[in-house]
Amino acid sequence: MSVRSFRALEVDEDGDGYAVRLVERLDADLPDGDVVVDVRWSDLNYKDGLIMSGRFGLVRRFPMTAGIDLVGTVVESGVAEVPVGRLVTVNGNGLGTDHPGGLAERARVPHAWVTPVPEPIDALSAAAIGTAGYTAALAVLALRGNGVEPGSGPVLVTGAAGGAGSIAVLLLAALGHEVVASTGRRRMEEESLLRLGASSVVDRLELLGDGELGRASWAGAIDTLGSRALATVLARTRYGGTVAAMGMAMGVDLPTSVVPFISRAVTLAGIDSVHAPPELRRDAWQLLADHLDLAALRGITEVVPLEQAAERSRAVMAGTVRGRLVVDVRA
Ligand SMILES: NC(=O)c1ccc[n+]([C@@H]2O[C@H](COP(=O)([O-])OP(=O)(O)OC[C@H]3O[C@@H](n4cnc5c(N)ncnc54)[C@H](OP(=O)(O)O)[C@@H]3O)[C@@H](O)[C@H]2O)c1
Repeated sequence: MSVRSFRALEVDEDGDGYAVRLVERLDADLPDGDVVVDVRWSDLNYKDGLIMSGRFGLVRRFPMTAGIDLVGTVVESGVAEVPVGRLVTVNGNGLGTDHPGGLAERARVPHAWVTPVPEPIDALSAAAIGTAGYTAALAVLALRGNGVEPGSGPVLVTGAAGGAGSIAVLLLAALGHEVVASTGRRRMEEESLLRLGASSVVDRLELLGDGELGRASWAGAIDTLGSRALATVLARTRYGGTVAAMGMAMGVDLPTSVVPFISRAVTLAGIDSVHAPPELRRDAWQLLADHLDLAALRGITEVVPLEQAAERSRAVMAGTVRGRLVVDVRA
């Protein structure tokens, strides 16, 4: 049997610092698991930026293949429910932090982590969705589960020009919601956000209130920022509304009080993509398959080669990327 090698983007400790290197690995280097995937695409999320810059100590052991997402074709499988030849994705589950990740040409994972990509989503679109889009869908499901329906009133999306934010805007608008997009790059991104379906665009600075109860504006919200932005979102949510908290691009703190909860019956719904159970993942991916405008998604997606992934992840951390970055792991 021939020995197969593949390229992988690894993060490693380097003296006092941190290094990201493109290396050659062998199939024998792959970890345990009953499904082997020929990876075609990966992508760059905010968390990939954190991992490749060494922040928050997210990586549990070194060296570690980076990449919290992968999309590819099953080439070996020990279970009937994940057949060889199936187009699949893996999002989170410790990929890229505890288990070698998706920024590589091959991966081996436990079958329980694998989500089949539902039609009509193609491989490139699945990577453009990635953790950002699948988590946006989890947040939309949480709003729905708490009674935020199209017609309930405006739904705010913060960090709207980023990956998760853009897909949240697209998905909510496609479902018939009135979407208010908040961005720190209004001058540059307003037109693009209106094209994605936002009804209006507001400046991020409007969300930097003092956390005191404010004008009741939104029936629901998807927040990617945390910190003072989330505090203000809570303070400006209408009676009985729900805020889905999915991010921390502004900070991990939350300077608020119980007032929005006990005076306006606001619900704060936590959203986690990493350990979400398989059925919930499938529901989120099906929602995307049924409603996401894939052509519009392509319009806010840039494809970069594997060897530029580390450099481009810095742009993600700087908050200068519009929409999504997909990584061509074969280029
Ligand atoms: N809960 C989960 O399981 C889960 C899953 C996926 C993502 N997340 C989190 O969700 C957030 C968004 O992820 P993403 O992949 O969509 O990231 P992204 O593409 O980098 O988007 C983040 C956006 O946040 C805004 N932003 C960035 N830095 C900021 C700062 N210092 N202050 C205020 N706003 C800032 C920018 O939006 P504007 O330019 O529009 O202002 C930026 O485009 C991240 O915090 C990520 O960790 C969590």
